[in-house]
Amino acid sequence: MRILYLISVFIHIICAVIWLGGMFSLILFFIPLRKEPYFLEVVHKLGEQFRFIGWIILPLLLITGLFNLIYRGFDFSFSSSYNKIIWLKIFLFLVIIVISAIHDFYIGPRATRTKDKKLLNYSRTIGRINFILAIIMVIIGIIIVRGL
Ligand code: HEM
Repeated sequence: MRILYLISVFIHIICAVIWLGGMFSLILFFIPLRKEPYFLEVVHKLGEQFRFIGWIILPLLLITGLFNLIYRGFDFSFSSSYNKIIWLKIFLFLVIIVISAIHDFYIGPRATRTKDKKLLNYSRTIGRINFILAIIMVIIGIIIVRGL
């Protein structure tokens, strides 16, 4: 069982790295190119690739996260502030799923196809919120392992 747990933590961390790495790359390497004429076309293509990988990564994060919780003896109660922090992580994960779905399947593709300013702004805002949530997920992960 211990070896399965270690593999699960490994997959969890690699998935978090890929997911956050994708976001960091977008912010650090592609957003600075936003004045280029080809920008929206590249973002559209990158978005499709990111969406494909993202929707493999997110279920993996959930499965390995739940496995890690069970291994750690989490009883799914609200009995302590430690447990409440874990529930916060699960709740934020659901928020990420909902806003990612809206962004990836509805607003994002339409925004880059139509170049509509309003949709592009919505897309950007959702991307930013998702990025902040991803950072909070890492912080909560650190707290789960080490306590407050
Ligand atoms: C966007 C989604 C997520 C991200 C970016 C993320 C990120 C991380 C990171 C970076 C760690 C390692 C912390 C460390 O070792 O110090 C971690 C640990 C952990 N995460 Fe997540 N996580 C996500 C989703 C979830 C979900 C959905 C669950 C539960 C259902 C979960 C449960 C856990 C648990 C239990 C640990 C501790 C693992 C251990 O035993 O070492 N995570 N998370």
